[in-house]
Amino acid sequence: MTSTLALHGGTAALADVPALPRWPQGGQEEEQALVDVLRSGAWGSTHGEVVRNFEGEFAQFQQTKHAVALANGTLALAASLRATGVGVGDEVIVPPYTFIATASAALFVGAIPVFADVDEHTHLLDPAATEAAITERTKAIIPVHLAGNVADMDAFQAIGERHQVAIIEDAAQAVGAQWQGRGVGALGDVGTFSFQTSKNLSAGEGGIVTTDDDALAAALYSLVNVGRVPGGGWYQHDSVGYNLRLTEFQAAILRVQLRQLPELQRQRAANDALLRDLLSDVEGVQIATPDPRVTSHGHHLFIFRVPELGSQGKRDAAVEALAAEGVPGASPGYVPLHRNEAVANESRALAERLGQPLPQAACPSADRVSSDTIWLPQFSLLGSDEQTEAIATAITKVAGATDAL
Ligand SMILES: Cc1ncc(COP(=O)(O)O)c(C=O)c1O
Repeated sequence: MTSTLALHGGTAALADVPALPRWPQGGQEEEQALVDVLRSGAWGSTHGEVVRNFEGEFAQFQQTKHAVALANGTLALAASLRATGVGVGDEVIVPPYTFIATASAALFVGAIPVFADVDEHTHLLDPAATEAAITERTKAIIPVHLAGNVADMDAFQAIGERHQVAIIEDAAQAVGAQWQGRGVGALGDVGTFSFQTSKNLSAGEGGIVTTDDDALAAALYSLVNVGRVPGGGWYQHDSVGYNLRLTEFQAAILRVQLRQLPELQRQRAANDALLRDLLSDVEGVQIATPDPRVTSHGHHLFIFRVPELGSQGKRDAAVEALAAEGVPGASPGYVPLHRNEAVANESRALAERLGQPLPQAACPSADRVSSDTIWLPQFSLLGSDEQTEAIATAITKVAGATDAL
């Protein structure tokens, strides 16, 4: 194999291996489950039992007492904030290195997202930075289990108790992840998950909120079901709620995929280990070792940093070079949210309207990691050893060709 980059006419590192598996995947079992719902005539969860069954199975899988399914992970966060009593003028501490929904959910309920920096090695919300950002208006903290890795939940539980603020785990990327043997979503007051197309458990769209708290579960049920109460009448609306219901079709797919998940996670874990091993001696490539308390990693993304690419402003060119080598789905990752104009403008307007200060912390680690991070999606970890080795070759080639980019 020539070491000339495929971008410059060399042979692509993945030229001789079969294409990686596509995502999402659906087979006969999903097809049958969809047909069963179609024929049942009960397409909505108000008339069928598929969503309810999925909720029970998911709660058991993540080791929580309750799970309330809903339309997506964005609204799962907004509903969780409402359920935990967060509202107009409150502050919600979020990491800047995450999907925009973590911050926009706060704005949806009239609260102000306040950024606390991430840990430079793990990309996860830093507990010390979080505690430093707490004010008398702080009502909730949203640690994000980015990439399937788990935020330091011992620290966040302690901060939650010390300051009497709600801890909402954004576990959109972390289905199957565990912290000291406990499922994520069972560690904070509530946990939120996403079943959008790219996720390890997917129905195209969808989400779920988990909690051990009976009162929070009932509040979430009402928020999802136009203010109805569990076991109450059809026109009994004891509170003002949205309609955020998941359909029976989505739940039918999710029930099948939940059964398939453990085997797929096993494959992702094995390929993650192989890729780490193959890249361990590659100069300039940094891959964080998860905290040993992460007893099960969600393997949603394979994240690595190449600081030299960042300092030379060549990270995006490297992502292009990886695509040319045949690596599917390589991404430059997030623009950090403390740099997002839309979030900043809306937060400023809200703060002005309420006559409140707008807290603004510097987030240098988020700035640094967002300049030199590259990630691969979870389906990159579903190939054979040969395919995984070819991905490692591609990364090695590109990381070693910084000057040529
Ligand atoms: C960290 C994080 N939070 C929230 C969401 C929002 O989920 P959804 O796309 O289902 O609204 C996503 C995923 O897209 C995510 O990655």
